[in-house]
Amino acid sequence: MSKRLPSSYGSKEGEGFDKLSPNGVGERGGVTKQVLEVTEEQVVAELAQLAAEIARHDELYHAQDAPEISDAEYDLLVRRNRALEAAFPHLVREDSPSRKVGHAPAAHLSKAPHSRPMLSLDNGFGEEDVAEFLARARRFLALPEGEMVACTAEPKIDGLSCALTYRNGLLVRAATRGDGQIGEDVTRNVRTIADVPGRLRGECPDLFEVRGEVYMAHADFRALNERQAQAGERTFANPRNAAAGSLRQLDPAVTAARPLRFFAHGWGEASAVPAASQYEMMRVIEGWGFPISPDLIRAEALDALLAHYRRIEAMRAELPFDIDGVVYKVDRLDWQARLGQVAKAPRWALAHKFPAERAQTTINRIDIQVGRTGKLTPLARLEPVTVGGVVVSNATLHNADEIARLGVRVGDRVTVQRAGDVIPQILENLTPEVEREPFLFPEKCPECGSDAVRAEGEVDIRCTGGLVCPAQRLERLKHFVSRPAMDIEGLGVKTVEEFARDGLIDTPASIFRLAAHREVILQREGWAERGTDNLLLAIEERRGFAPDRVLFAVGVRHVGQVTARDLLKHFTTLEKLGEVAARAGQEPECLAEITSVQGVGPTVAQALADFFAEEHNREAWDDLLAEARPAVFKQEIRQSPVTGKTVVFTGSLETLSRDEAKVQAERLGAKVAGSVSAKTDLVVAGPGAGSKLKKAAELGVAVTDETGWARLVAGEVDEFSMLAGEAEGG
Ligand code: IVH
Repeated sequence: MSKRLPSSYGSKEGEGFDKLSPNGVGERGGVTKQVLEVTEEQVVAELAQLAAEIARHDELYHAQDAPEISDAEYDLLVRRNRALEAAFPHLVREDSPSRKVGHAPAAHLSKAPHSRPMLSLDNGFGEEDVAEFLARARRFLALPEGEMVACTAEPKIDGLSCALTYRNGLLVRAATRGDGQIGEDVTRNVRTIADVPGRLRGECPDLFEVRGEVYMAHADFRALNERQAQAGERTFANPRNAAAGSLRQLDPAVTAARPLRFFAHGWGEASAVPAASQYEMMRVIEGWGFPISPDLIRAEALDALLAHYRRIEAMRAELPFDIDGVVYKVDRLDWQARLGQVAKAPRWALAHKFPAERAQTTINRIDIQVGRTGKLTPLARLEPVTVGGVVVSNATLHNADEIARLGVRVGDRVTVQRAGDVIPQILENLTPEVEREPFLFPEKCPECGSDAVRAEGEVDIRCTGGLVCPAQRLERLKHFVSRPAMDIEGLGVKTVEEFARDGLIDTPASIFRLAAHREVILQREGWAERGTDNLLLAIEERRGFAPDRVLFAVGVRHVGQVTARDLLKHFTTLEKLGEVAARAGQEPECLAEITSVQGVGPTVAQALADFFAEEHNREAWDDLLAEARPAVFKQEIRQSPVTGKTVVFTGSLETLSRDEAKVQAERLGAKVAGSVSAKTDLVVAGPGAGSKLKKAAELGVAVTDETGWARLVAGEVDEFSMLAGEAEGG
């Protein structure tokens, strides 16, 4: 059976319809009403796909603080899901994204159940959605003609929500939203936030839970990322992720060192609510000592609310923190109570989101950037243009295919979009019909002149110059000294850049010769004796280092930490590995020997052969081995409760990559397995753990979380039983 699916949903007939295209991406601002033919079968399939896709992005956003798509792109998926569900209510899935809020709490923080669920907000994208919100409230309340629904309006802060419980005026608990029912206990961390009072000022109810948003200001975010980069630590994609990552830390000292802020926007459980309206309550909360938005207003008419929306949108660029819309709330609390909630959001509130910010400009130049593994990335240099208050002069073009798809050339006028802190994107070429020279993707690396080639089946074009290429050399040096690689303290990204620029270092081996430049370094600004000698000492300490770390540090393509270890288990020294790999190009037995190593496949073997086929790579390799004299590989096993045991990691890990976890387990003499069985001794479960955790419980296998694991690795735990019961599930 097929059904006609109207392309507009939730809005009245007329202008401003959202066009729905069958591939799930809507387009705003179409004026013609389109109707699409869709079969139920197609809808079932699409809803399933949307549920999976949205769940994945939820997990990335909420649990890993590492989103892959912009909020605007995410909203498109949610809107498509909503439109399909509205047209086919009988096909709404059990696990529909419209029924879920946020994400299950992380296993490393203890759980904090909410006595009143922490809801989400319904989103509106256009003025008609706001009109409909008010009309719906009026209908629901059965208000007589002429009776207005006064609402508050304030910015929607792009942070993470937090519930602060006060008993007799004292802060006793702080919790994140989690899945809306159960959050994470972040009390110790929230106590370090200056905006949050430890004690309420003046009269207050015995029990009162203030709710609001924890966020990070732009300037603090930039400073934090700089410090992180300097220290070789992970940087954050945007202030929201930085705030989430900082709040959900195990160590409150780390949170304290990261300037978080707070705005109150509501409340939860309360023994008494000392005012009758949202607006007055917010003033009461302000009186207790909380920051509330200076742009909170109360208004009666739609026009006034929309005018405030436009005011806030206009000042968005000047605000020192991210906002992504305006929130309207029905002012009268008795009306809020009558309106209640649907599924996951209250009927008395609406988030009026800002559209993704776009502007038009001209491509002045297309530059090619070269990464560590030689990948060539085209970058459009734009005539500077203000996009939502931020001056944009660069946009990524990703790869040659993207340039072809957009058909862009130097001189074209284009639409650019900026969403969050993602690198701006080019959406469309506005002047495809103008005759112009097409952009030719270079066949030579612009940095070193080596051939740039596209391997079969790959999208990317790579420079074959290896260490000859100055851009690759610099990126590789940064990788070489980084924490999971050689971990040279005092040699951060900035220092590497400066030293390389001034010719103090050029290859990995040259780092070991830095001592010869001690006097030159001492002449540099910011380099006193002590810091210089500490750096030189840190470098000396890396002579005779573990060969698997050195191999990983060299940065051969496809050779990660685990592969490096697997290779060294077999070859035991880098000399031996180098000899075999250098012959692998000509001698099939050598290639076969590498492929025979457990855990190593043909891709890695070929990558090693390719690396050693280049003379300059062989030279740099020999030079490095001569200087650094890496040790013979030793399965250094530290006795621990997991020595000789089998461990399974499941769910997402927050502070470790899977590779790091595996390497840690092996250093403790444990075997890592992929599935839980009667032979499993320990399961380490992160958020999102599912069937494996259940199986472990059935089999009575010991379970811990990442914190428990960290304590094991740190040697703080002598007995298995000390771990038991630390994780009750993800
Ligand atoms: S009111 C019933 N007001 O947006 C929900 N939320 O997308 C009450 N948010 O979970 C929320 N600024 O974390 C409200 N001024 C504001 C807000 C705000 C940001 C967050 C909040 C909520 C999320 C929903």
